[in-house]
Amino acid sequence: MSAGRAPGKIILFGEHAVVYRRPAIAVPVLGVEVNAQIEILEAETTGQVWLESATVAVSGWIHDLKPGHPLATTLQLGLQALNITGFPSFRLRIRSSIPVASGLGSSAAVSVAIFRALNDHFKGDLTTQDINQMAYRIEKEYHGTPSGVDNTVIAYEQPVFFTMDADPEILRLSRPMHFVVADSGITSSTSEAVQGVRQRWEQEPSRYEALFDAIGQISREARGIMVGETRGSLGELMDRNHSLLQEIGVSSAVLDTLVNRARDAGARGAKLSGAGLGGNIIALTHGGEDQSIADALLQAGASRILHTVVYP
Ligand code: PMV
Repeated sequence: MSAGRAPGKIILFGEHAVVYRRPAIAVPVLGVEVNAQIEILEAETTGQVWLESATVAVSGWIHDLKPGHPLATTLQLGLQALNITGFPSFRLRIRSSIPVASGLGSSAAVSVAIFRALNDHFKGDLTTQDINQMAYRIEKEYHGTPSGVDNTVIAYEQPVFFTMDADPEILRLSRPMHFVVADSGITSSTSEAVQGVRQRWEQEPSRYEALFDAIGQISREARGIMVGETRGSLGELMDRNHSLLQEIGVSSAVLDTLVNRARDAGARGAKLSGAGLGGNIIALTHGGEDQSIADALLQAGASRILHTVVYP
């Protein structure tokens, strides 16, 4: 059996502004993942793929999916990249512990895991960079105008300082970072949130450009602190980033409540993470007090808590 996996992710700084070519920082969440497994179906003919995925509620032959189904396109792109034409029929099974539509990168992780499983199965030589670019193509086809930060951090499985159209910088952290991630329980559509920002940017371009500049500057400052080049408070930068996200109109009363509750419970800083309007907030902690912060967030209505540590 062949397999591929991919982790979840959180955006620490720079969401939305990154779509307007400002830098962002994202880190992998290794405690959740997508797993793709490929097994040859002995009894079957060639060239058929049986797909099984509880996550996207699919169980059937890939050619029976509606035309343009994202999983069919992902599979086709993978086979094309590997120059595969005829092959013994196989079963592709996808399992995921990454919650969908909550800002943890589930869609990019599905693509990356499938490409890795295909590469393993067909003994291909696709590099991380190839897989990243392929996953970006899928993101672009199905998720509006993505910046590419999700597929990049998930493909590299390392903290990244990301700017569109530039090579990602892998960040070597100077010390571990502890996060509590709290799900608001409200699913949100990234493309709707991104479209909303675009409409407001079109109405007030100079105000929005200034907000994006301020967010980009926060990402740069945070990068310096994370790699140990400069001193400063990452928690404070997260708080400032959250205020700017409020100003660009992607926070909500529920997200603000969770962010405030995390700070009151002792987090070093907190902000929404991802597209906003729903999805997750993240709180940076000292590591020891995570449980009391998690309890406070659950009490404030969070539907699920994840703890994650990013090690140097
Ligand atoms: O909702 P998520 O975690 O996929 O985050 C989207 C991040 C945005 O900056 C809002 C969009 C993008 O493509 O970068």
